[in-house]
Amino acid sequence: MKYVLELSDLCVIYKSNNYLKKAIDQLSLNIAQGEVFGFLGPNGAGKTTTIKSIFNFLPATSGQIKIFGKPSCNQSLHARMGYMPEIANYYWYLTPRELLRMYAGFFGMKKDVTDKKIDSLLSLVDIQAEANVLLKNFSKGMMQKVSLAQSLINDPDFLVLDEPTSGLDPLARSKVRDIIKGLKAKGKTIFFSSHELSEVELVCDRIGILNKGNLVKTDKIAEILQQKGNNMSLERYFLDIITKDKA
Ligand SMILES: Nc1ncnc2c1ncn2[C@@H]1O[C@H](COP(=O)(O)OP(=O)(O)OP(=O)(O)O)[C@@H](O)[C@H]1O
Ligand SMILES: [Mg+2]
Repeated sequence: MKYVLELSDLCVIYKSNNYLKKAIDQLSLNIAQGEVFGFLGPNGAGKTTTIKSIFNFLPATSGQIKIFGKPSCNQSLHARMGYMPEIANYYWYLTPRELLRMYAGFFGMKKDVTDKKIDSLLSLVDIQAEANVLLKNFSKGMMQKVSLAQSLINDPDFLVLDEPTSGLDPLARSKVRDIIKGLKAKGKTIFFSSHELSEVELVCDRIGILNKGNLVKTDKIAEILQQKGNNMSLERYFLDIITKDKA
């Protein structure tokens, strides 16, 4: 089996002055090529911390992270990866078009390719009418759309999204679902965190549940829904696991 992401015994500890927090404890997880994986867990479980470690923005305290078989510290990997952060802190005095141009520049994309790609992404996330409006005027959901477009600028093979549907209206959410499905159809691998379990249920192949830094469960969506009969939803499954884990 070819794995795009391999986490082995990942530990991440936050440490400063009087503060010490083991945010991730011995997390081991493999994500296969072409898989859409939903990374679930209550607030503070460690999802964002894991995602930041995958990109080496936050170095692992111990353990190993491999992406396409290479250690995550290998800078060349970033050309094949896309990242949508939990909070989009982009420079406010840029328009979406300028922001995407700047990111295209990071990847060394040529101007003619870039202009076409930007137009198609702006239309994909439904922000073409605001392409030349400063980001300081954007709503939260509009910013999320720009952030999703940013994560796709380099046509990544491995896409990591931290709560991509947070703040989006129902139409935009269903659009994100279609985008994810479209990327999967092209063979891309997608790893995303979410609290929107009904969305996750519709789009993911497999989920993992993180609680207090520990990966307590991984399962295929089809098996979750089949195991528990027709009345089972991912939400009920999630709540069962989290409440048992708390007990
Ligand atoms: N920059 C930081 N400095 C210190 N501790 C942090 C920092 N970021 C997160 N933590 C701690 O690490 C733990 C995991 O936080 P993290 O942001 O990874 O959770 P999460 O699963 O993404 O939660 P949410 O669903 O609310 O986004 C929490 O206990 C949090 O307090
Ligand atoms: Mg988070």
